Amino acid sequence: MKLQENIALAPLTTLRIGGDARFFVRAEAVEDVEAAVAFAHDKNLPLFVLGGGSNVLISDKGWPGLALQIGISGIDHSHERETIRFVVGAGEEWDAFVALCVSRNCAGVECLSGIPGSVGATPVQNVGAYGQEVSQTITSVQVFDLATKQVREMNPEDCEFGYRTSIFNTRERGRYIILGVTHELRHGGPPSLQYADLRNYFSGRKETPTLSETREAVRKIRATKGMLITPGDPDSQSAGSFFKNPVLTAAQFEQLAQRTKERNLQVPSFTALSQQKKISAAWLVENSGFAKGYVKGHVGISSKHALALVNRGGASASEIVALKNEIQERVEQVWGIKLEPEPVLVGF
Ligand code: EPU
Repeated sequence: MKLQENIALAPLTTLRIGGDARFFVRAEAVEDVEAAVAFAHDKNLPLFVLGGGSNVLISDKGWPGLALQIGISGIDHSHERETIRFVVGAGEEWDAFVALCVSRNCAGVECLSGIPGSVGATPVQNVGAYGQEVSQTITSVQVFDLATKQVREMNPEDCEFGYRTSIFNTRERGRYIILGVTHELRHGGPPSLQYADLRNYFSGRKETPTLSETREAVRKIRATKGMLITPGDPDSQSAGSFFKNPVLTAAQFEQLAQRTKERNLQVPSFTALSQQKKISAAWLVENSGFAKGYVKGHVGISSKHALALVNRGGASASEIVALKNEIQERVEQVWGIKLEPEPVLVGF
């Protein structure tokens, strides 16, 4: 294990914000994880696990304990008829894994193209886009259990996957370090084309798009929304969606309907969202007086998507938090709905 001190965390995140980690280890193997955990335990240091850094906001003070970056690599695969099983190291880059699956003609993750971050981070918030979620193909998650100091395999039921949730960010937050993820994909399966954006992209086409055409389409759509990390595009210096799409109760929905009527507005409704009783957080933000491209000092709202808060250059974490609070307060005032942040806030 290579122990480093006072390491800047900002360059390891897509927002490029945050202070230093007092101690830092990049774990290339399970043994490094065990050694790092033992070090933190001996020194009584708080532990924070970093993946690809695409879904975190690190405080300006940084992290007072040990930041452990999971760099475990390797992709093994085996097959049984048309089911291909991929066992993937947590430190592998998610989009490179998707590219590999698509190039091998394996269906199941093509809609999750262009999502930044590491493979090991994806089960934590059950990453999803365009109708697919990692929970649909994950068959096992290999973890280091900090409670028992043992490595174990968790099946999907153990993971308690929900919309942007799992046991890893709810009930047992901080207990498990993800070491690897097993996905089962379908060789030769058709692409998933449930979402309106994707269907529109292919409208007028007779033959079913291939997996790689679907991957390209998703990447292009994401790029138009600033949700694809594109060097030189200031709108992509973000943590993706900063708020979850709220899931409403019947009573909340009633109230929302009342308020929209008073304002002569209509909440956009999509089958894919309404099936899960979700409404568009981006729409709520835009209809609370915030426009895309809203600027506040060094931070702002992406000019391409109302849900992405961006670092326009030289921003601090406290500026992002102030903007987050301002949006949450205004949306609650106007719509009676409290938006929940989606990224993990670290060191606050
Ligand atoms: N909309 C607006 N203003 C905007 C953008 C969107 O009003 O600036 C409305 C539109 O009506 C639009 C609808 O919201 O049609 C849905 O927007 P979009 O398709 O962009 O999806 P989203 O619900 O905002 C979710 C995920 C994204 C994922 C996309 C695509 C969450 C919080 N976000 O966004 O995931 O890529 O769907 O499936 O669930 C992420 O989690 O970080 C993330 C980027």
